[in-house]
Amino acid sequence: MARWGASVLERLPLGGDETVLDAGCGSGRVTERLAERLPAGRVIALDGSPAMLAAARTRLTRFGSRVEFVEADLARPLPLGDRSVDAVLSTATFHWVEDHAALFRHLARVIRPGGRLVAQCGGRGNIAAVQRAIAAAGETWPGPWTMAGPEETRQRLEAAGFTDVETWLHDEPTPLEPGEPLREFLQTVVLGAHLERLPEARREGFVAAVAANLPDAVIDYVRLNIVATRAA
Ligand SMILES: C[S@@+](CC[C@H](N)C(=O)[O-])C[C@H]1O[C@@H](n2cnc3c(N)ncnc32)[C@H](O)[C@@H]1O
Repeated sequence: MARWGASVLERLPLGGDETVLDAGCGSGRVTERLAERLPAGRVIALDGSPAMLAAARTRLTRFGSRVEFVEADLARPLPLGDRSVDAVLSTATFHWVEDHAALFRHLARVIRPGGRLVAQCGGRGNIAAVQRAIAAAGETWPGPWTMAGPEETRQRLEAAGFTDVETWLHDEPTPLEPGEPLREFLQTVVLGAHLERLPEARREGFVAAVAANLPDAVIDYVRLNIVATRAA
């Protein structure tokens, strides 16, 4: 996933002195690569989770005041006051936000005219086999989330004030060793949000059931890619 983030970052042209918002910075792995590319610039690392922001703070200490941390919900207008940014980068986050039309409006409000949005998140069909395995285990995914396709995403971006929009899906099937490695990956990465809502006593059995119901030891990730420019 860190590799996916790095390849998304490569799509963002930077001179090195810009201010860039990382929307959903998580523990700051991609943010760190971003900050390295901005030796004379600034990063605003935004996330809705205080725990993730705490981890990002620790990881990004060496950048000092060049990285600012903001706790905020991307589903709501962003609390940046009058400030605008040159670009927004976002990886593995937008699918957690239910209303993409509102999300893109909030982002458009903080990007300067001509500034870029470069993002990747789960897209239409993402982990469909895992979801079928969850259903076969008698559960439903907790949601809410939006696994959008490229067509509706383009329309939402243009309606929000973006131009030169490129959106596309690509498959990232991720094979794992069957058995314990598969179960561990499901537990820590794929099902993490779901497991938090299950009583502790049921978690191990649930992960084992999902692993057993998968047709093979592959996580069928599908990624939605976005490159767009804030209209002048
Ligand atoms: C899978 S992590 C991705 C972290 C990082 N961008 C990366 O690629 O490694 C998704 C992050 O999105 C954050 N997130 C999810 N929904 C959010 C929302 N509505 N507002 C702000 N952050 C949100 C989560 O707290 C989490 O840190």
